[in-house]
Amino acid sequence: MRRAKISIIGAGNVGATTAHWCAAAELGDIVLLDIPQTETMPAGKALDLMEAAPIVGFDSTIVGTNCYSDTTNSDVVVITAGIPRKPGMSRDDLLKTNASIVSSVSKEIQSSSPEAIVIVVSNPLDAMVQQAQKVTGFPHHRVMGQAGVLDTARYRTFLAMELGVSVEDVQAMLMGGHGDTMVPLRSCSTVGGIPVSQLLPSDRLEEIIERTRKGGGEIVSLLKTGSAYYAPAAATAQMVEAIVRDKKRVLPLAAYCNSEYGVGGYYVGVPAILGADGVEKILSLELSEQEQAEFQKSVAAVKDLVATMDQLLG
Ligand code: NAI
Ligand code: 2OP
Repeated sequence: MRRAKISIIGAGNVGATTAHWCAAAELGDIVLLDIPQTETMPAGKALDLMEAAPIVGFDSTIVGTNCYSDTTNSDVVVITAGIPRKPGMSRDDLLKTNASIVSSVSKEIQSSSPEAIVIVVSNPLDAMVQQAQKVTGFPHHRVMGQAGVLDTARYRTFLAMELGVSVEDVQAMLMGGHGDTMVPLRSCSTVGGIPVSQLLPSDRLEEIIERTRKGGGEIVSLLKTGSAYYAPAAATAQMVEAIVRDKKRVLPLAAYCNSEYGVGGYYVGVPAILGADGVEKILSLELSEQEQAEFQKSVAAVKDLVATMDQLLG
Protein backbone atom coordinates (compact mmCIF):
# COMPACT_ATOMS: atom_id res chain seq x y z
CA MET A 1 0.00 0.00 0.00
CA ARG A 2 1.25 3.48 -0.90
CA ARG A 3 2.18 5.58 2.11
CA ALA A 4 0.37 8.89 2.51
CA LYS A 5 2.28 11.95 1.31
CA ILE A 6 2.05 14.82 3.75
CA SER A 7 3.45 18.23 2.82
CA ILE A 8 3.96 20.91 5.42
CA ILE A 9 4.35 24.45 4.11
CA GLY A 10 6.37 26.58 6.52
CA ALA A 11 9.25 24.81 8.26
CA GLY A 12 9.24 27.04 11.34
CA ASN A 13 8.30 26.04 14.85
CA VAL A 14 4.81 24.72 14.17
CA GLY A 15 5.69 23.21 10.78
CA ALA A 16 8.81 21.36 11.89
CA THR A 17 7.16 20.14 15.09
CA THR A 18 4.15 18.90 13.10
CA ALA A 19 6.61 16.96 10.94
CA HIS A 20 8.10 15.54 14.14
CA TRP A 21 4.75 14.31 15.53
CA CYS A 22 3.65 12.97 12.11
CA ALA A 23 6.92 11.08 11.64
CA ALA A 24 6.89 9.66 15.16
CA ALA A 25 3.38 8.32 14.52
CA GLU A 26 4.47 7.02 11.09
CA LEU A 27 1.59 8.80 9.37
CA GLY A 28 3.31 8.89 5.98
CA ASP A 29 6.18 10.40 4.02
CA ILE A 30 6.72 14.04 4.78
CA VAL A 31 7.86 17.05 2.75
CA LEU A 32 8.82 20.15 4.71
CA LEU A 33 8.87 23.28 2.56
CA ASP A 34 9.93 26.86 3.27
CA ILE A 35 10.81 29.93 1.19
CA PRO A 36 14.08 30.05 -0.78
CA GLN A 37 15.40 32.78 1.57
CA THR A 38 15.60 30.13 4.32
CA GLU A 39 18.07 28.32 2.04
CA THR A 40 18.90 24.83 3.34
CA MET A 41 17.08 25.18 6.68
CA PRO A 42 14.18 22.84 5.72
CA ALA A 43 16.68 20.25 4.43
CA GLY A 44 18.60 20.51 7.70
CA LYS A 45 15.51 20.00 9.84
CA ALA A 46 14.31 17.13 7.64
CA LEU A 47 17.65 15.31 7.77
CA ASP A 48 17.91 15.81 11.54
CA LEU A 49 14.44 14.29 11.93
CA MET A 50 15.29 11.38 9.57
CA GLU A 51 18.30 10.62 11.75
CA ALA A 52 15.93 10.12 14.70
CA ALA A 53 14.19 7.28 12.81
CA PRO A 54 16.55 4.48 13.89
CA ILE A 55 16.19 5.55 17.52
CA VAL A 56 12.44 6.10 17.57
CA GLY A 57 11.76 3.40 14.99
CA PHE A 58 9.74 4.93 12.19
CA ASP A 59 9.98 4.35 8.44
CA SER A 60 8.70 7.69 7.17
CA THR A 61 10.93 9.62 4.82
CA ILE A 62 11.27 13.34 5.45
CA VAL A 63 12.45 15.72 2.75
CA GLY A 64 13.21 19.39 3.27
CA THR A 65 12.90 21.70 0.28
CA ASN A 66 12.20 25.12 -1.21
CA CYS A 67 10.51 23.67 -4.33
CA TYR A 68 6.84 22.84 -4.75
CA SER A 69 7.75 20.16 -7.29
CA ASP A 70 8.77 18.01 -4.30
CA THR A 71 5.26 18.29 -2.88
CA THR A 72 3.52 17.07 -6.05
CA ASN A 73 0.37 15.02 -5.48
CA SER A 74 0.37 15.25 -1.72
CA ASP A 75 -2.57 13.65 0.03
CA VAL A 76 -2.57 16.18 2.84
CA VAL A 77 -1.04 19.66 2.86
CA VAL A 78 -0.63 21.61 6.09
CA ILE A 79 -0.16 25.39 5.85
CA THR A 80 1.86 26.87 8.71
CA ALA A 81 3.53 29.58 6.62
CA GLY A 82 3.32 33.08 7.95
CA ILE A 83 4.96 35.62 10.13
CA PRO A 84 4.36 36.29 13.79
CA ARG A 85 3.29 39.77 14.89
CA LYS A 86 6.37 41.94 15.38
CA PRO A 87 6.76 45.02 17.60
CA GLY A 88 5.19 48.05 15.91
CA MET A 89 3.09 45.90 13.62
CA SER A 90 -0.67 46.36 13.75
CA ARG A 91 -3.14 43.48 13.71
CA ASP A 92 -4.16 44.59 10.22
CA ASP A 93 -0.52 44.56 9.02
CA LEU A 94 -0.26 40.97 10.19
CA LEU A 95 -3.59 40.08 8.63
CA LYS A 96 -2.56 41.51 5.29
CA THR A 97 0.91 39.95 5.28
CA ASN A 98 -0.28 36.49 6.26
CA ALA A 99 -3.24 36.64 3.89
CA SER A 100 -0.79 37.36 1.03
CA ILE A 101 1.48 34.51 2.14
CA VAL A 102 -1.44 32.07 2.47
CA SER A 103 -2.76 33.17 -0.94
CA SER A 104 0.54 32.52 -2.68
CA VAL A 105 0.98 29.18 -0.91
CA SER A 106 -2.60 28.15 -1.78
CA LYS A 107 -1.99 28.93 -5.46
CA GLU A 108 1.01 26.61 -5.44
CA ILE A 109 -0.96 23.87 -3.69
CA GLN A 110 -3.76 24.16 -6.24
CA SER A 111 -1.42 23.34 -9.10
CA SER A 112 0.94 20.90 -7.36
CA SER A 113 -1.56 18.87 -5.30
CA PRO A 114 -5.01 19.36 -6.82
CA GLU A 115 -6.55 16.44 -4.92
CA ALA A 116 -5.09 17.27 -1.50
CA ILE A 117 -6.90 17.84 1.74
CA VAL A 118 -5.64 21.10 3.20
CA ILE A 119 -5.29 21.93 6.89
CA VAL A 120 -4.61 25.61 7.56
CA VAL A 121 -2.84 26.57 10.78
CA SER A 122 -1.53 30.08 9.99
CA ASN A 123 -3.11 32.95 11.90
CA PRO A 124 -5.49 34.69 12.07
CA LEU A 125 -6.84 31.22 11.55
CA ASP A 126 -10.48 31.79 10.65
CA ALA A 127 -9.62 34.31 7.92
CA MET A 128 -6.64 32.31 6.59
CA VAL A 129 -8.69 29.16 6.04
CA GLN A 130 -11.37 31.17 4.23
CA GLN A 131 -8.66 32.62 1.96
CA ALA A 132 -7.03 29.24 1.32
CA GLN A 133 -10.34 27.77 0.16
CA LYS A 134 -11.06 30.79 -2.02
CA VAL A 135 -7.67 30.64 -3.77
CA THR A 136 -7.45 26.86 -4.19
CA GLY A 137 -11.10 26.60 -5.20
CA PHE A 138 -11.08 23.14 -3.59
CA PRO A 139 -14.41 21.78 -2.33
CA HIS A 140 -15.11 23.09 1.16
CA HIS A 141 -14.86 19.66 2.77
CA ARG A 142 -11.21 19.44 1.60
CA VAL A 143 -10.10 22.69 3.27
CA MET A 144 -10.26 23.20 7.02
CA GLY A 145 -8.52 24.97 9.86
CA GLN A 146 -6.82 23.72 12.99
CA ALA A 147 -7.65 25.57 16.18
CA GLY A 148 -10.31 23.72 18.15
CA VAL A 149 -8.20 20.62 18.78
CA LEU A 150 -5.58 22.87 20.37
CA ASP A 151 -8.08 24.99 22.28
CA THR A 152 -9.93 21.96 23.70
CA ALA A 153 -6.59 20.36 24.59
CA ARG A 154 -5.74 23.46 26.62
CA TYR A 155 -9.17 23.37 28.28
CA ARG A 156 -8.81 19.64 29.05
CA THR A 157 -5.32 20.20 30.44
CA PHE A 158 -6.51 22.95 32.78
CA LEU A 159 -9.50 20.87 33.94
CA ALA A 160 -7.29 17.83 34.60
CA MET A 161 -4.79 19.99 36.52
CA GLU A 162 -7.59 21.51 38.58
CA LEU A 163 -9.26 18.20 39.43
CA GLY A 164 -6.08 16.14 39.78
CA VAL A 165 -7.30 13.54 37.26
CA SER A 166 -5.93 11.97 34.09
CA VAL A 167 -6.31 14.12 30.99
CA GLU A 168 -7.44 10.94 29.26
CA ASP A 169 -10.70 11.12 31.22
CA VAL A 170 -11.43 14.74 30.41
CA GLN A 171 -13.52 15.31 27.29
CA ALA A 172 -14.59 18.66 25.94
CA MET A 173 -16.02 20.39 22.89
CA LEU A 174 -15.58 23.97 21.80
CA MET A 175 -16.99 26.15 19.04
CA GLY A 176 -16.47 29.52 17.37
CA GLY A 177 -13.40 31.38 16.18
CA HIS A 178 -9.80 30.95 17.33
CA GLY A 179 -9.52 33.86 19.71
CA ASP A 180 -10.98 35.49 22.76
CA THR A 181 -14.53 34.79 21.59
CA MET A 182 -14.16 30.99 21.38
CA VAL A 183 -16.98 29.10 23.09
CA PRO A 184 -16.03 26.12 25.27
CA LEU A 185 -19.30 24.18 25.64
CA ARG A 186 -20.05 23.70 29.29
CA SER A 187 -22.73 21.12 28.41
CA CYS A 188 -20.17 18.92 26.60
CA SER A 189 -17.39 19.01 29.21
CA THR A 190 -17.17 15.74 31.08
CA VAL A 191 -14.74 13.94 33.36
CA GLY A 192 -15.05 10.16 33.15
CA GLY A 193 -18.55 10.74 31.75
CA ILE A 194 -19.55 13.03 34.66
CA PRO A 195 -20.61 16.56 33.66
CA VAL A 196 -17.87 18.90 34.85
CA SER A 197 -20.50 21.16 36.43
CA GLN A 198 -20.98 18.42 39.07
CA LEU A 199 -17.29 18.50 39.98
CA LEU A 200 -16.42 22.20 39.91
CA PRO A 201 -18.16 25.31 41.19
CA SER A 202 -19.39 27.42 38.29
CA ASP A 203 -17.19 30.44 39.12
CA ARG A 204 -14.07 28.25 39.03
CA LEU A 205 -15.20 26.71 35.73
CA GLU A 206 -15.63 30.21 34.29
CA GLU A 207 -12.05 31.06 35.34
CA ILE A 208 -10.77 27.97 33.55
CA ILE A 209 -12.76 28.85 30.45
CA GLU A 210 -11.28 32.35 30.52
CA ARG A 211 -7.77 30.91 30.85
CA THR A 212 -8.50 28.67 27.83
CA ARG A 213 -9.61 31.67 25.75
CA LYS A 214 -6.34 33.38 26.53
CA GLY A 215 -4.25 30.19 26.28
CA GLY A 216 -2.26 31.33 23.24
CA GLY A 217 -1.37 34.65 24.87
CA GLU A 218 -0.28 32.89 28.08
CA ILE A 219 2.33 30.91 26.16
CA VAL A 220 3.48 34.01 24.23
CA SER A 221 4.03 35.89 27.47
CA LEU A 222 6.07 33.01 28.88
CA LEU A 223 8.15 32.33 25.76
CA LYS A 224 8.74 36.03 25.04
CA THR A 225 9.85 35.19 21.48
CA GLY A 226 7.28 33.47 19.29
CA SER A 227 4.14 31.54 20.11
CA ALA A 228 3.13 28.02 21.09
CA TYR A 229 4.16 25.13 18.88
CA TYR A 230 4.32 21.75 20.68
CA ALA A 231 0.57 21.54 21.36
CA PRO A 232 -0.47 23.28 18.11
CA ALA A 233 1.66 20.82 16.15
CA ALA A 234 0.31 17.82 18.10
CA ALA A 235 -3.21 19.05 17.37
CA THR A 236 -2.41 19.35 13.67
CA ALA A 237 -0.86 15.88 13.57
CA GLN A 238 -4.01 14.47 15.18
CA MET A 239 -6.03 15.92 12.30
CA VAL A 240 -3.57 14.53 9.75
CA GLU A 241 -3.91 11.12 11.39
CA ALA A 242 -7.72 11.26 11.27
CA ILE A 243 -7.49 11.84 7.51
CA VAL A 244 -4.74 9.43 6.47
CA ARG A 245 -6.09 6.63 8.69
CA ASP A 246 -9.74 7.47 7.91
CA LYS A 247 -10.49 7.45 11.60
CA LYS A 248 -13.79 9.36 11.55
CA ARG A 249 -12.68 11.32 14.60
CA VAL A 250 -15.15 13.73 16.14
CA LEU A 251 -13.07 16.88 16.52
CA PRO A 252 -13.63 20.60 16.83
CA LEU A 253 -12.23 22.21 13.68
CA ALA A 254 -12.75 25.25 11.48
CA ALA A 255 -15.18 23.97 8.86
CA TYR A 256 -17.19 25.81 6.23
CA CYS A 257 -20.66 26.45 7.59
CA ASN A 258 -23.43 27.76 5.43
CA SER A 259 -26.85 26.65 6.67
CA GLU A 260 -25.14 24.91 9.59
CA TYR A 261 -25.80 26.90 12.76
CA GLY A 262 -27.08 29.68 10.45
CA VAL A 263 -23.51 30.87 9.85
CA GLY A 264 -24.03 31.82 6.20
CA GLY A 265 -20.84 30.87 4.35
CA TYR A 266 -17.89 31.24 6.74
CA TYR A 267 -15.30 28.99 8.34
CA VAL A 268 -15.81 28.69 12.09
CA GLY A 269 -15.01 26.12 14.74
CA VAL A 270 -17.68 23.41 14.97
CA PRO A 271 -17.74 19.72 15.92
CA ALA A 272 -17.17 17.60 12.82
CA ILE A 273 -16.35 14.09 11.67
CA LEU A 274 -12.91 13.99 10.10
CA GLY A 275 -11.89 11.11 7.83
CA ALA A 276 -10.38 10.22 4.47
CA ASP A 277 -12.75 12.59 2.64
CA GLY A 278 -11.87 15.49 4.89
CA VAL A 279 -14.72 17.12 6.79
CA GLU A 280 -17.29 14.37 6.32
CA LYS A 281 -20.05 15.80 8.47
CA ILE A 282 -20.68 18.81 10.65
CA LEU A 283 -22.51 17.81 13.80
CA SER A 284 -25.49 19.90 14.84
CA LEU A 285 -25.63 20.38 18.58
CA GLU A 286 -28.39 21.91 20.59
CA LEU A 287 -26.79 24.87 22.32
CA SER A 288 -27.95 26.49 25.52
CA GLU A 289 -29.17 30.07 25.27
CA GLN A 290 -25.86 31.34 26.67
CA GLU A 291 -23.79 29.16 24.30
CA GLN A 292 -25.92 30.27 21.36
CA ALA A 293 -25.38 33.94 22.22
CA GLU A 294 -21.63 33.43 22.67
CA PHE A 295 -21.40 31.53 19.39
CA GLN A 296 -23.21 34.29 17.49
CA LYS A 297 -20.77 36.83 18.96
CA SER A 298 -17.83 34.70 17.87
CA VAL A 299 -19.24 34.27 14.35
CA ALA A 300 -19.69 38.04 14.13
CA ALA A 301 -16.01 38.49 15.06
CA VAL A 302 -14.98 36.01 12.34
CA LYS A 303 -17.11 37.86 9.76
CA ASP A 304 -15.48 41.18 10.74
CA LEU A 305 -12.04 39.63 10.39
CA VAL A 306 -12.81 38.27 6.92
CA ALA A 307 -14.31 41.61 5.83
CA THR A 308 -11.17 43.44 6.99
CA MET A 309 -8.97 40.93 5.17
CA ASP A 310 -10.95 41.33 1.95
CA GLN A 311 -10.67 45.12 2.24
CA LEU A 312 -6.91 44.97 2.88
CA LEU A 313 -6.36 42.63 -0.05
CA GLY A 314 -8.39 44.96 -2.26
P1 NAI B 1 7.58 30.54 12.55
O1 NAI B 1 7.94 31.95 12.31
O2 NAI B 1 8.41 29.69 13.44
O3 NAI B 1 7.45 29.76 11.15
C1 NAI B 1 6.78 30.28 10.04
C2 NAI B 1 7.56 29.83 8.81
O4 NAI B 1 6.81 30.20 7.65
C3 NAI B 1 8.94 30.49 8.68
O5 NAI B 1 9.94 29.48 8.61
C4 NAI B 1 8.84 31.27 7.39
O6 NAI B 1 10.05 31.34 6.65
C5 NAI B 1 7.78 30.47 6.65
N1 NAI B 1 7.17 31.21 5.55
C6 NAI B 1 6.89 32.53 5.44
N2 NAI B 1 6.37 32.80 4.23
C7 NAI B 1 6.32 31.63 3.56
C8 NAI B 1 5.89 31.26 2.27
N3 NAI B 1 5.38 32.16 1.41
N4 NAI B 1 6.00 29.96 1.91
C9 NAI B 1 6.49 29.03 2.75
N5 NAI B 1 6.92 29.33 3.99
C10 NAI B 1 6.83 30.61 4.39
O7 NAI B 1 6.07 30.56 13.08
P2 NAI B 1 5.29 29.39 13.82
O8 NAI B 1 5.45 29.52 15.28
O9 NAI B 1 5.65 28.11 13.16
O10 NAI B 1 3.78 29.76 13.47
C11 NAI B 1 3.31 29.64 12.14
C12 NAI B 1 1.90 30.17 12.03
O11 NAI B 1 0.99 29.36 12.76
C13 NAI B 1 1.72 31.59 12.59
O12 NAI B 1 0.83 32.31 11.77
C14 NAI B 1 1.09 31.34 13.96
O13 NAI B 1 0.38 32.45 14.44
C15 NAI B 1 0.20 30.17 13.62
N6 NAI B 1 -0.25 29.36 14.74
C16 NAI B 1 -1.54 28.92 14.70
C17 NAI B 1 -2.04 28.10 15.68
C18 NAI B 1 -3.41 27.56 15.58
O14 NAI B 1 -3.86 26.90 16.51
N7 NAI B 1 -4.12 27.78 14.49
C19 NAI B 1 -1.21 27.74 16.85
C20 NAI B 1 0.15 28.20 16.76
C21 NAI B 1 0.60 29.02 15.74
C1 2OP C 1 -2.07 29.85 19.84
O1 2OP C 1 -3.24 29.75 20.17
C2 2OP C 1 -0.75 31.49 18.54
O2 2OP C 1 -2.81 30.69 17.74
C3 2OP C 1 -1.71 30.42 18.50
O3 2OP C 1 -1.13 29.50 20.58
